[in-house]
Amino acid sequence: MLSGTVLVTGGGSGIGRATAERAGREGASVAIVDRAADNAAETARLVTAAGGRALAYPCDVGDDAAVADTVQRIGRDLGRVTGVVTAAGIFHGPDLQPAHQVTVDDFVHVLRVNLVGTFAVIKHALPMLIDGGGAIVTIASTAAIRGHGYGAGYTASKGGVDALTRLLAVQYGASDVRANCICPGGVDTPMTGGTFATDEAIARAKQRVPIGRYAQARDIGDVAIFLLSDDARYLTGQTVPVEGGATIA
Ligand SMILES: NC(=O)c1ccc[n+]([C@@H]2O[C@H](COP(=O)([O-])OP(=O)(O)OC[C@H]3O[C@@H](n4cnc5c(N)ncnc54)[C@H](O)[C@@H]3O)[C@@H](O)[C@H]2O)c1
Repeated sequence: MLSGTVLVTGGGSGIGRATAERAGREGASVAIVDRAADNAAETARLVTAAGGRALAYPCDVGDDAAVADTVQRIGRDLGRVTGVVTAAGIFHGPDLQPAHQVTVDDFVHVLRVNLVGTFAVIKHALPMLIDGGGAIVTIASTAAIRGHGYGAGYTASKGGVDALTRLLAVQYGASDVRANCICPGGVDTPMTGGTFATDEAIARAKQRVPIGRYAQARDIGDVAIFLLSDDARYLTGQTVPVEGGATIA
């Protein structure tokens, strides 16, 4: 069970939506923050239809002023934020070129959403989190912990998210705020556009992933809910790969 208000960025799709749906089923009020307004509203509808309480907040996490305003509104509408899950993130085509072909503008574009956006949301939620305790779950990637070979900005942003999470755990542990970072492997979501669902990918997963398949969004969301919950009360500052064992095979 979860109590209080859980803020989920990227809650309009994929991992964020799966996390929001589960948070609603666990009894939290859910604030769905996503730049895609229609998708955020659809997640709120799904949570509500399942008996939960949720509101959608269209917001670009890369826009600090908008984030500050959104987090304040969430506190007024749904009550003190007790949990934050930062799943908003982008893959950016030009960033997937070899590093020497990636422009600094494209590199910074990815950092602004994946790293700066993660920081902004957490920064503005922290006054509420420390006012009674709470938990933060960041979503990085196995790109943070092993060489993926593509995505200079993506990799740097995810490594930054992982390191930032450790800083938060150290700075706010005494305030009863925990922070942990999930590093998903391949997950079949709109971000990956079906590439993990082809016959070839399914066969590849049997070879490369000990559990024998790529993830579904809820495989990640369920771990995020555990990390938010009181069951994880003595767990903080950890990098949690959720990749079917792919990084140890
Ligand atoms: N799918 C994978 O294989 C995979 C693997 C490792 C890590 N991840 C990470 O998991 C997180 C969720 O990814 P997903 O696969 O669910 O992707 P997704 O594309 O399905 O969902 C991402 C959501 O983030 C939102 N978003 C993007 N930029 C935003 C911004 N500036 N402000 C607010 N919202 C924004 C999108 O609108 C979308 O709803 C991302 O951070 C991603 O990097 C995904």
